[in-house]
Amino acid sequence: MTKQKIKKLNGTLKISGDKSISHRALILSSISVGKSEITNLLESEDVMNTINILKNLGIKIVKKEKKWIVFGNGTNGFLQPNKALECGNSGTTARLLLGAVSTNPIFCTFVGDSSLSKRPMHRVTDHLKKMGCKISLTNNENLPLTIRGSNTILPLTHKISKPSAQIKSAIILAALNSNGETTIIEPRQTRNHTELLLKYLNVNYKSYRIASGGKKLIFNGPYEIRSKNILVSGDPSSSAFIIVGALITPNSKIKLLDVSLNKTRIAYLSILKKMGGKIKIKKTKIRSGEQFGSITAATSSLRGIVIPESLSPNLIDEYPILSIAASRAKGVTIMKGLEELRFKESDRIKSIIGMLKSFGIKTKVERNNIKIYGSHSKDIHCKNTIKVYSDHRIALSASILGIISKNPVRLDDNGKSIATSYPNFKTDLKILNSN
Ligand code: S3P
Repeated sequence: MTKQKIKKLNGTLKISGDKSISHRALILSSISVGKSEITNLLESEDVMNTINILKNLGIKIVKKEKKWIVFGNGTNGFLQPNKALECGNSGTTARLLLGAVSTNPIFCTFVGDSSLSKRPMHRVTDHLKKMGCKISLTNNENLPLTIRGSNTILPLTHKISKPSAQIKSAIILAALNSNGETTIIEPRQTRNHTELLLKYLNVNYKSYRIASGGKKLIFNGPYEIRSKNILVSGDPSSSAFIIVGALITPNSKIKLLDVSLNKTRIAYLSILKKMGGKIKIKKTKIRSGEQFGSITAATSSLRGIVIPESLSPNLIDEYPILSIAASRAKGVTIMKGLEELRFKESDRIKSIIGMLKSFGIKTKVERNNIKIYGSHSKDIHCKNTIKVYSDHRIALSASILGIISKNPVRLDDNGKSIATSYPNFKTDLKILNSN
């Protein structure tokens, strides 16, 4: 895909909007009252799926110049859709919108692509069923599923069994239109964009730290949310590909502007710094509840480290690209406690190992831990077409290692999956290569 045309990464780039925040900006604007203008929305396939579903639910959404304008109908304003809600590859679309529709008296069918249809949905629907929704899943856990929302949702206490921002956000979205107090306890802190955006929208809720390192959230619904304009910060997960690209490619130095520096999303920067990465972070402004800032990274000599399980909720999307950094490090990197990777867009333990093997990198899997033996200064060759399992983060990671490969790198999906989260990837690489 990169055809060896990229020789180095140099210069300054404004990274495209964050995927998680883009979904939330659209959904929360749809359930607010009034008009919201969203700036820097990520226009990727996943986010377009969210837009199309919201339109099917009766929300007017239009693009005017570079802004997306959403005409919100309130927390109980979704209308009966006249076709199945197509989530494509997007777990966030499916899980968050399940929560959002659950409190509206409508009947919806959720469908997805073959990858999403294998991913567990019962982690969200179990909570929604307890609240009073009628849901019927394929194999009791998968899409396609049907949901009949209820406008008499029960306010309950929900203990979430695994750290997941998608489960938490689905329950929050249901709680916003429930009558009474909903308590949500998450065992470890996960990305908190829903909470930050709600605070920005003046929604009153309580939030406490708990001993396990997680949070207890208390919502007292129903809420009427007044629309506000939202500026989406740059995606730190997309940034990670460019940053690791700069670290492992000779003569590189890049600066990324207006990236979200949300603490629940940039744990990977501390890991890369620990590995010897020359990285600098500078906070700039807070907008729409999120900390914005810039990140610089330059060619570095990396070393292997141990990444403990406790960090996994906040590194969850970055393991594929961290495995690329590890593949170029001196010594061994051990990534522990990766069980959740098995439930992503692909079984990422399997797809990471397969990808590294194609590049001749030695690895070992012990239960849910991965060991990567760094190739350090040895040349990289790609032995075969890389199987990306239609997983955007695997395709992006392989393309980054492809920059320094001595021979061209081929992806079995020709890079098609990259449009899921980072449609500007090729253009961004070209911009940085031309400086
Ligand atoms: C996301 C949460 C994470 C992450 C996904 C986006 C979100 O999933 O992997 O890419 O926007 O809430 P889990 O919360 O299920 O771990």
